[in-house]
Amino acid sequence: MGGDMPIKVERICCIGAGYVGGPTMSVIAKNCPEIEVTVVDLDKSRIDHWNDNNLSKLPIFEPGLDQVIQECRNRNLFFTTDIESSISNADIVFLSVNTPTKVRGIGAGRASDLKWIEASARQVASFAKGHTIVVEKSTIPVRTAETIKIILNSSNKIKNSNNELKTFSVLSNPEFLSEGRAISDLEDPDRVLIGGDDPEAINCLAGIYEKWINSEKILKTNLWSSELSKLAANAFLAQRISSINTFSSLCEKTGADISEVSTAIGMDKRIGSKFLNSGPGFGGSCFKKDLLNLIYIANFYKLPLVADYWEKVLEINLWQQNRIVEKIVENLFGTLSYKKLAVFGFSFKSNTNDTRESPAIKICQDLIKEGANLSIYDPKVSKKQICKDLQIDPGTNKNVEGGTWNLSKSIYEAVKDSLGIVVLTEWEEFKFIDWEKIAELTEYPIWLFDTRNICNKEEAIKNNINVWNIGSNY
Ligand code: NAD
Ligand code: UGA
Repeated sequence: MGGDMPIKVERICCIGAGYVGGPTMSVIAKNCPEIEVTVVDLDKSRIDHWNDNNLSKLPIFEPGLDQVIQECRNRNLFFTTDIESSISNADIVFLSVNTPTKVRGIGAGRASDLKWIEASARQVASFAKGHTIVVEKSTIPVRTAETIKIILNSSNKIKNSNNELKTFSVLSNPEFLSEGRAISDLEDPDRVLIGGDDPEAINCLAGIYEKWINSEKILKTNLWSSELSKLAANAFLAQRISSINTFSSLCEKTGADISEVSTAIGMDKRIGSKFLNSGPGFGGSCFKKDLLNLIYIANFYKLPLVADYWEKVLEINLWQQNRIVEKIVENLFGTLSYKKLAVFGFSFKSNTNDTRESPAIKICQDLIKEGANLSIYDPKVSKKQICKDLQIDPGTNKNVEGGTWNLSKSIYEAVKDSLGIVVLTEWEEFKFIDWEKIAELTEYPIWLFDTRNICNKEEAIKNNINVWNIGSNY
């Protein structure tokens, strides 16, 4: 497609300055100082935050991201809303836009909403010049590249000012980074997957990653294998969490201990030791949406048993959250009315300020419905975000009778006069709580509900705190 000469990459454009686009392009810019990398977004305020001189105001929090931004921004890394010129100057355009679950119409609540992918492909079709490699970075349903190709190729009859035809190669290059570890995952990934049918374009993209990643880790496949592998990877990871969570309930009934069971099975190399922590269920922007999408695709291809199999992974996830709320109500004498509970952690996991699909949202909403007054402490999540997620203003409750919530600045402020402590995110500081100090601040009898199995239970018990721990009989 690009002729006999190897394709030389001077400029990259990434459409979408989100959790994936921002960190991924920062790491490319850091490792390829000779390439100019521009990240574009429709959202001006997001771009302004990326350009803020105060690095604590970057739109996302990721350990190590601020250093990379400091090194590369305005050197060979740029954030702008000027989509047209960024695309027209680019040799490679990454599509890194959001692909959430559709909320209305055919497939609502299941299928991926591809309107942002389609819109960005149309932007590329309109503004690209010469030959452009278009890379799907977003997670999309298998065979989406077909749609992108149709949109792009409908524009390739249009000549640019130099009387050249526009040509495109479409590649799939899904992203496997996990939030809170984005920079280390991008610097040292388990693998980089590139799917496509144009070997020259594949090698060109591989050449960029080879600047810092061993070529043995760069896997080249056909387009559809690459697209489907991303959904498969997330489905397997989510399934592993639901699997271990089913065992946490069995442990609580039988006297087995989930951390001992995890260690015992994880030592089998065929199973592996990672991703075996039982908790309040998986959150995050992708596992649920990608499973829903997989279920939709399975039904679309008339494979209902396959769809049902993956549906159960989602059902177990919700069941685990409901089970936790039931345990709290049961241990606090069947009612939460007028009871103050401290909630430790609101993000969907530690080291991120992201609350998308956080198990804390449903658990807190359910506790409030039961009449509890929550004092929520999270080291990174803002009051505004919790307000948006719970759909209740702090201190008031317009939706249901009974409970409400307030934000606390520390665990010790949150526990004052509480009858229960609910740990929902595994922030490091929760390992080092001073339980003697907590005991002085709370009411009695007091319960600790540790859904992440992270607190020092022995110390809590020593200070007369009752403990319910996920997956064991404390
Ligand atoms: P995000 O919502 O944080 O960012 C997407 C950005 O794209 C938004 O800022 C939005 O304004 C912008 N955008 C949408 N349409 C646009 C257009 N036409 N022109 C310019 N900008 C546009 O999303 P994200 O979390 O970065 O996820 C992006 C994709 O990557 C999704 O498909 C997701 O499934 C996948 N993914 C996410 C993660 C993760 O950890 N968040 C990891 C791997 C893969
Ligand atoms: C996940 C995948 O790990 C990434 O590979 C993928 O790129 C990404 O989704 C995506 O496609 O968006 P992420 O959602 O950032 O990454 O976070 P994970 O570390 O996978 O955690 C997801 C959820 O599972 C969290 O709520 C976490 O607390 C929970 N979890 C994780 C457990 O309950 N137990 C575990 O052992 C591991």
